Order: sequence, then C-alpha cells, then structure tokens
Amino acid sequence: MKKIAVFTSGGDSPGMNACIRAVVRTGIFRGLEVYGINRGYEGMIEGDIFLMNSHSVSNIVQRGGTMLKSARSSEFRTPEGRKTAYEQLSALGIEGLVAIGGDGTFTGAKIFFEEYGIPTIGCPGTIDNDIYGTDYTIGFDTAVNTALEAIDKIRDTAAAHDRIFFVEVMGRDAGFIAVESGIGGGAEFVMVPETQTDLNMVVNTLKSHREFRSSSIIVVAEGDDLGNADHIMAIVKEKIQDPTREFKVTTLGHIQRGGSPTARDRVLGSRCGMGAVDGLIAGKTNCMSGLMNNELVYTPFADCIGKHKPLHPDHLALMEILNI
Ligand code: F6P
Repeated sequence: MKKIAVFTSGGDSPGMNACIRAVVRTGIFRGLEVYGINRGYEGMIEGDIFLMNSHSVSNIVQRGGTMLKSARSSEFRTPEGRKTAYEQLSALGIEGLVAIGGDGTFTGAKIFFEEYGIPTIGCPGTIDNDIYGTDYTIGFDTAVNTALEAIDKIRDTAAAHDRIFFVEVMGRDAGFIAVESGIGGGAEFVMVPETQTDLNMVVNTLKSHREFRSSSIIVVAEGDDLGNADHIMAIVKEKIQDPTREFKVTTLGHIQRGGSPTARDRVLGSRCGMGAVDGLIAGKTNCMSGLMNNELVYTPFADCIGKHKPLHPDHLALMEILNI
C-alpha cells in the first residue's frame, strides 16, 4: 500500500481534526502518501481530493469542526454515485481509505468496500457515542462538557426564580449525552430514547419536591420516546396544574457540536487515527479502529452498525438514586 485517503462524513464532532492529523502524520511516518478528501462522500464523487503533507495538519488539533469539511451525501447512496467515487479514487491510485464518522458513514463505507474492494477502516467520530466497538466516540466528551456547562448556568437562573427547566440535548437515537450531563449536572430527571419515560412518576415527584426544592432541571434527549422538550414540558405543565409553578425550555442544539475538543477527545481521535493507518498497513479492512478498556480494537463495520450499544446500567441506576 502506497497511497491512502482520509475523509470526514456525517455530523462533525470535536476531535475529528486531531484524528485527521494523526492519520496524515502516521501515514507519512510509515512512508505512505496521504490524500485528503473534502466534504466526505460528496467530495469523493466530485474528485475534490488533494495530496497532504505534515504541515497540512498544523495548528488544527485544538480546533472543533473538521478541516476536511463534512456532508451527508445522498448521491453516494446510489450505485452510480459510488461508481463515480471509485473512478475518482482509482485515477489517483488510492489503495486505502480512512473514514471518520458515525453509523451512516460506516454503512456507506461497508457497501463501497463490498462493491469495489478498496480497503477501508473507520474512526468513530460522532458526539452521540452510539457506536458499538468503542467505549467512547470522538467528540462525545467535549459535547457532554458543553452541555454540562450550560446546565450549570441554567441551574443558577432556575434557582433564582424557582423554575422548572427542561433542557434538551442532542441524541436522536441515543441518550449518552443526556445521561452523563444529567448525572454531572445534578438533574432531577433524565429522559432518553432507550427507556420508557414514566411521566406520572415525574409529575408526582415534582409535586412532592415542591415543599423543599422549588427549582428543577430535567434533561431530555431530543429523541425521547415522548417527544421533544417543548412537547414534554407542555404535558407536565398540564398535569401539575399549579399556576404558581413556572416552566421553561432550553434547547442546546448545535452548540454541542462545536468548540475546542477536550484532551480526551484529542487523544482518542489521535489513537484511533494512528490505529486506522496501522490497521490498513497490516491488511485489515471493513472495520473500525476504536478504544475499549483503553486498548485499540478493530470491530467489523457490520457490528458497529448492527449491534446496539446500551447505556451503562449503573448510569441509569444513579439517576434514580441521586434524585431522592
Ligand atoms: O449525529 C450527531 C447529531 O449531532 C445528532 O445528535 C443530531 O440529532 C444530528 O446530528 C443533527 O444533525 P444535523 O446537524 O444534520 O442537523
């Protein structure tokens, strides 16, 4: 293997730049030519591909976002789109790919490998942490800390006005951000897609808290089974039937996706990036380079996409215990 290419795809996450940097510098260190592909699969189809050197990735390790930009490509979902992408890569003699992204990215990479056989290794880049085969995904730690900082600030004003706040965090299909920011931020409740929310219990507890605790924080993952934070707040307000209580909703949104990555995300991104290049050189393919129990492991894309990564049961238990 002489030439490899790296790209980022799907939702960006803080630490992707550290991962790109590690891929480029590991590749060069091991004697490879490393190309960058702009805008994920879109750029692959358009041939927006350029040769990188070690200076191409200077001064990016501390930055959020991704220097290679990202996109969600509908064209790559078509056989024609993938054929064009293959032709672009072949024209440059690219023999290996590093795909940094989440389950959508890996689904595309798996199909592409099965059709055209270009060895591909993924690195888990998503704030959601919902990828099987790695304890944490690149960007999750930064996103949780961003959410936590916001929750701390909301708590100040919630307490000052004795209000009940519903804070909506990201997580379409997974409650990792909600649970960890909820535990860290001392939330009264956390509502996540993985568990059924018992609203009557929430309402009764909020009523009973009235005597000794007049402000509350409820963290809602955007993908909760009952709907978004606005919707849940309206139902709770209706059920509590107490005009003296005030309810507010704060949706944190895309601020969770940006910002300077934490040390954990930089190190995780760097280790996964190095692992991806070394894996390609060792002949591995169609798998993801992740960290489990602080060791580098390669997990087949089929498992990363197909297996469900559960919330830690201790985290769910803690939410119940800490709320008494
Ligand atoms: O998958 C990462 C994520 O940030 C989810 O938490 C969120 O639901 C989604 O991406 C938002 O995607 P977009 O930026 O395309 O609106």
